[in-house]
Amino acid sequence: MPLPALSPDTTDFLAEKHLMLIDGKWVPAASGKTIDIVNPATEEVIGTVPAGDAADIDKAVAAARKAFDTGPWPKMPPSERARLLWKLADLLEQNAQQITEVEILDNGMPLNHAGRMAVPLAANMCRYYAGWPTKILGDTIPVDPPMPGVEVLTYTRKEPVGVVGQITPWNYPLGMVAMKLGPALATGCTVVLKPAEQAPLTALIVAELVQEAGIPDGVVNVVTGYGETAGAALTAHPDVDKVAFTGSTDVGRIILRAAAGNLKKVSLELGGKSPFIIFPDADLERAIPGAAFSAFFLQGQNCMCGSRLFVHKQIFDKVVEGVAGFAKMMKIGPGLDPETNIGPLISSEQLSRVSGFLAAGPKEGATLVAGGKRVDRKGYFVEPTVFANTNREMKVVREEIFGPVTCAQMFDTDDLDAVAKLANDTAFGLVGSIWTKNLAIAHKLAARIKAGTMGINTHGMADINAPFGGYKQSGWGREFGKESLDLYLETKTVVQHM
Ligand code: NAI
Ligand code: MG
Repeated sequence: MPLPALSPDTTDFLAEKHLMLIDGKWVPAASGKTIDIVNPATEEVIGTVPAGDAADIDKAVAAARKAFDTGPWPKMPPSERARLLWKLADLLEQNAQQITEVEILDNGMPLNHAGRMAVPLAANMCRYYAGWPTKILGDTIPVDPPMPGVEVLTYTRKEPVGVVGQITPWNYPLGMVAMKLGPALATGCTVVLKPAEQAPLTALIVAELVQEAGIPDGVVNVVTGYGETAGAALTAHPDVDKVAFTGSTDVGRIILRAAAGNLKKVSLELGGKSPFIIFPDADLERAIPGAAFSAFFLQGQNCMCGSRLFVHKQIFDKVVEGVAGFAKMMKIGPGLDPETNIGPLISSEQLSRVSGFLAAGPKEGATLVAGGKRVDRKGYFVEPTVFANTNREMKVVREEIFGPVTCAQMFDTDDLDAVAKLANDTAFGLVGSIWTKNLAIAHKLAARIKAGTMGINTHGMADINAPFGGYKQSGWGREFGKESLDLYLETKTVVQHM
């Protein structure tokens, strides 16, 4: 069957020469260099974006600095900032078809995910943050006077941290941009955003809509470019007050070092190796598809991927067979095909990374139950893969694969401390899930696992209303929810001797 035709807006957008937004103007990279954008389902180049580097970052930071220090944005009435964020949400929805198609072509994600999760979630995030500018409150604090008879008034103000550098990954491009811009704009910060070089196109559409919404020039600047050049320049820049990053744990460490120069504030959302724990009494009708979905969603290119599957001995074979059944049944194909469950990996680099893990599993003694290889067709497709008989020593169990791979391990104990020890035997701590009908067990175990989000009979149900982030090497700080605003605010204490 032929793929559905692209909308005229999408073909128009693809025909454009893409530029980046600095201080309200669309510009090429100062160097004139570009980066090819590849459709991972076809390996075809579908356009280029500017290869911005330190020179472009300098200009963008200067624009954001000016917009913060002397522009209207941080002083704008809160209801007005709210209105502009709400407008941005409306504009995302009005352009949903184009944005969804571009996201699929750029990133490869299947339509049945992109349709539900790209624009609807990004618009929802903007509206969530539109609610906050009018509700950012300080405290009035009773303090001990320095001497009897003196009266003191002490209160706190919440002030925007300033110019923010935001670096986003390619696995969920639009959502990542929305979840970064939302709290920065709600608090009155100004932004230099550097989207991932592998999938930067929807960030450029968002930049257009930011302008169309009427957000003042210089408040949001988008510089496309490589991490090692543009990203590194942004994180080291002395005029940037805060950097927010989502990506690999290794780059998280590099960013921390780069931020040390001016001690900019840092928030990090990094990798995961999330435990998915199934007890014998679990409802397997839900747990088995849940395990498959958690591992294979977005081709496993998802920080919440349920990649360590701990199954009780009594039900181990049944669960592994069930998850393998899903793996074999899932339809692999281009994201534009509405029937597709598994799209391509993002790039040839990611394909070779994931292929390395697929080879390492059996070499280290894991049993291959489903999948295990590249699909013989154009595009960066690999089969959803299930390994059984895995253990803590194996590379496939220790490292984040970021591909559609789950590693099943058997457990045979009712001791919750022992189960928690298995789950916690990782450098990461982003999410986890527990599948059982016994809620006392579920809550006791949820308290024992070191992860930022624990699911009970669900996995990775992240929602903008509730905090999200990592323990251990999965990151610093919490995005989403009220806590995300703290990442973009300074607290000032004002004391008056009356
Ligand atoms: P990455 O961490 O290198 O890229 C993420 C972002 O960081 C991109 O915008 C990139 O341009 C930027 N970046 C890279 N190097 C930088 C530097 N030195 N300074 C500043 N910014 C820099 O991730 P990559 O290489 O695309 O993927 C490799 C692995 O990282 C994946 O296989 C996966 O395990 C992990 N990853 C995890 C993500 C998550 O959400 N947990 C997202 C993306 C990747
Ligand atoms: Mg990298």
